[in-house]
Amino acid sequence: MSQSAQAAPTGRQRDAAILVTGAGGEMGHGLLCALHCAKDRQAAIIALDVRELAPEIRAHCDHAFVGDVCDHALLARLLAMYEIVEIYHLAALLSTRGEFAPETAHQVNVGGTLNLLHLAAEQARSHGRTVKFFFPSSIAVYGIPDLATKGAAGAVREDQFCEPHTMYGCNKLAGEHLGRYYDQHYRKLAKDRIANPVDFRSIRFPGIISAETMPSGGTSDFGPEMIHAAAAGRPYRCFVRPDSRIPFMTMPEAIDSTLRLMQAPKRALHRSVYNVASFSPCADDFARLVRGAFSTAEIEFEPDLGRQSIIDSWPESCDDSAARRDWNWNPTHTLEGAFRAYLLPRISSRYPESTVSAPVDVARAVDMLKK
Ligand code: SER
Repeated sequence: MSQSAQAAPTGRQRDAAILVTGAGGEMGHGLLCALHCAKDRQAAIIALDVRELAPEIRAHCDHAFVGDVCDHALLARLLAMYEIVEIYHLAALLSTRGEFAPETAHQVNVGGTLNLLHLAAEQARSHGRTVKFFFPSSIAVYGIPDLATKGAAGAVREDQFCEPHTMYGCNKLAGEHLGRYYDQHYRKLAKDRIANPVDFRSIRFPGIISAETMPSGGTSDFGPEMIHAAAAGRPYRCFVRPDSRIPFMTMPEAIDSTLRLMQAPKRALHRSVYNVASFSPCADDFARLVRGAFSTAEIEFEPDLGRQSIIDSWPESCDDSAARRDWNWNPTHTLEGAFRAYLLPRISSRYPESTVSAPVDVARAVDMLKK
């Protein structure tokens, strides 16, 4: 079970630890690196994933375990071995994959979240301190009934349109409510109840684009897939219409927002779940930027009706005024800035053997977007 090179702690005193589930996924990659480099870190980093971690991710962890968030025996062992002070519960099946096996998605996404919240509450009981818990939620919790309503809605607030069309969206909404329950109301009637065992904090992320990794199983994947395909010299068939518009952000912005929210004083937080926003391109904006930057890019649009209907139910943009007010959220990039300063330089160096002959031309790409 343990992928750890070092022996896990065996003494009476348990090691203080930060637990990251889904550590091998796209977000885990960026988050583990940031947690590992944090100057004031006083706890070991423990990673959990269903697959062995790639060596470069493993290097950021003190201990790594291969296993499932639904495995009660494994979670009980972690409870006994470590004094967990913070949990980043990233493990989940994304929205497209979840529609092929909704009940399995529910087991992993809701069952797993319940198990981790229970672990957090039991940890708090055993060491007497509140456990901080981060839960990445999603724009998938929104379910807008039709395109006319989507266009008219503009930037949606956290309390609008919470009627998701996917199992993943239902699961994320359930996770948000469970987190709030464990934070404020857990075991309301128990005689030995402890107040606020879990300090639950959550962000509803838009589609996330990383220059380092590719998403898998999501519905916002068309954005990152289009860019990575062009950089690798592969043709790309986009599964949504050119006018499809949802919010996106870069992976560094997603990690920055996570750390900012987790570091904010609890008294400043007026909600447990926050929208964040950065840029909101349509699929054709991506295509024009990519074609401008990679002269050999081949992009066609071949909408898949099912996946299109999911994208059409997600908002064009999100109102992030609560995050700006409570914990100083501020996006780093516009779409053009994200291409210029982050995506193109990093992606091009990631595909050195790419068949793209022309150098990446960012200025031309931005010009194409203006036309
Ligand atoms: N990126 C996710 C998905 O597409 C949405 O949060 O499933």
